[in-house]
Amino acid sequence: MKSKKENILIVDDNYDMLELLHRNLKAQNFHTYKASSVKEAIDILKFSSVDLLITDLQMPGINGIELVKYVDEHFPAIPKLVITGFPSVDSAIEAVKSGALDYLAKPFTNDELKKAVQNLIVSKENAKNNNEEVASSSGKITEYAGIVGKSQQIVQLVDLIQRVKDNRATVLIQGESGTGKELVARAIHYEGVFSSKPFVVVNCGAIPESLMESELFGYVKGAFTGANETRDGFFQAAAGGTIFLDEIGTAPLAVQTRLLRVLQEKEVSMVGSQKTQKIELRIIAATNNDLYEMSNKGAFREDLYYRLNVVNIETPPLRNRRSDIKLLIITFLNKYSVEYNKPQITISAKAVSVLMRHSWPGNVRELENVIQRMIIMSGDQIEVADVPEYLKFPMPFEKEEFKSLKDIEKAHILKVLSVVENNKTRAAEILQIDRKTLRQKLEK
Ligand SMILES: Nc1ncnc2c1ncn2[C@@H]1O[C@H](COP(=O)(O)OP(=O)(O)OP(=O)(O)O)[C@@H](O)[C@H]1O
Ligand SMILES: [Mg+2]
Repeated sequence: MKSKKENILIVDDNYDMLELLHRNLKAQNFHTYKASSVKEAIDILKFSSVDLLITDLQMPGINGIELVKYVDEHFPAIPKLVITGFPSVDSAIEAVKSGALDYLAKPFTNDELKKAVQNLIVSKENAKNNNEEVASSSGKITEYAGIVGKSQQIVQLVDLIQRVKDNRATVLIQGESGTGKELVARAIHYEGVFSSKPFVVVNCGAIPESLMESELFGYVKGAFTGANETRDGFFQAAAGGTIFLDEIGTAPLAVQTRLLRVLQEKEVSMVGSQKTQKIELRIIAATNNDLYEMSNKGAFREDLYYRLNVVNIETPPLRNRRSDIKLLIITFLNKYSVEYNKPQITISAKAVSVLMRHSWPGNVRELENVIQRMIIMSGDQIEVADVPEYLKFPMPFEKEEFKSLKDIEKAHILKVLSVVENNKTRAAEILQIDRKTLRQKLEK
């Protein structure tokens, strides 16, 4: 096991029992504190560093259950081993419920004691190391402007960002929803030499088509009814910095045409004005559509696509870089447990493996939401029970993809049979095979 000597607090009103436990644990290379009452035990807990509690249940004055509850509340990291004098299962179960991790009925053998203690120490170590261990299990961690990962894809992504951040090349970021497109855009801007200039986000999907031009390029007084004064658009607001055209795939064709001109001429004109203004800024566009395919179908201007696609950055889906899942779990766990004022929260290895199995169609955003929700709902340690139900079943593609035809046939036959309540004639009809074939298949 480990080199550090664990401190075990043993509590029993029976002196012989204390001595027995003490000698036994010492032989196992543990250090012990002895207390013959709950009061004494609490004093020791307050002033010493205790790694494990072993307590009797039946004691005069305050009994062991109260001590277990106290430790649970004030020293939740200390595992508890409860020793019951009577074969009274009820009180032992009560102890377990109130947070004792294990119990041992008297009389017990040395081996039983040793095993119980070691199990508890190991479980404690697991909980403690969980976060660090989960995060550090091999591989170098990349962390850049809020982008966290250790997969090769993230290393390449950050490398690309670093190469474009200090110039003004137009960038097209493509990736599924929740993969970090905006995060990447912000990284490019805020890590670059123009970071003190504005970063302006335009959600091309959220502006009504009729307002898009005036929002983007501004308008002059009198350009249309209601244009009582000249107003800057997003492009003017972003001067010198970055304009982030999010969801560019949803921009109407008329706006695409205007954008193309801006990219070609490097100048804009306000709605209602013939005058052009030179603009110096970087354009970053993002989309979760396949712009190339859209342009083939005529839904997106091909010439604009090529103008935008000077530097192409793809944000990879989470399911293709599973090694990042664990790290992101810990990253969000640390971030949000502080935010929700629940520090020291850990996650069990089992819960992690359930999360690892999921295919994360909503990518990092989905994972982030799930972690936040679990932090709010769980106790000190996130367990499988805290994981949302829908994540506990493997996604269909994972389940079905590796099934043989025979297995699928078998499952289907059984399903049909159960629907027709085992009426084989009816089942054969539905399956469009004769009864003999069905019988053969069933025998198999
Ligand atoms: N590699 C990463 N490391 C840390 N956090 C990440 C990473 N990728 C994404 N996130 C976080 O996930 C969330 C979603 O990211 P973001 O909004 O950038 O995605 P998006 O691709 O723009 O999504 P959508 O297409 O839905 O707009 C954000 O809270 C972001 O901080
Ligand atoms: Mg986005």
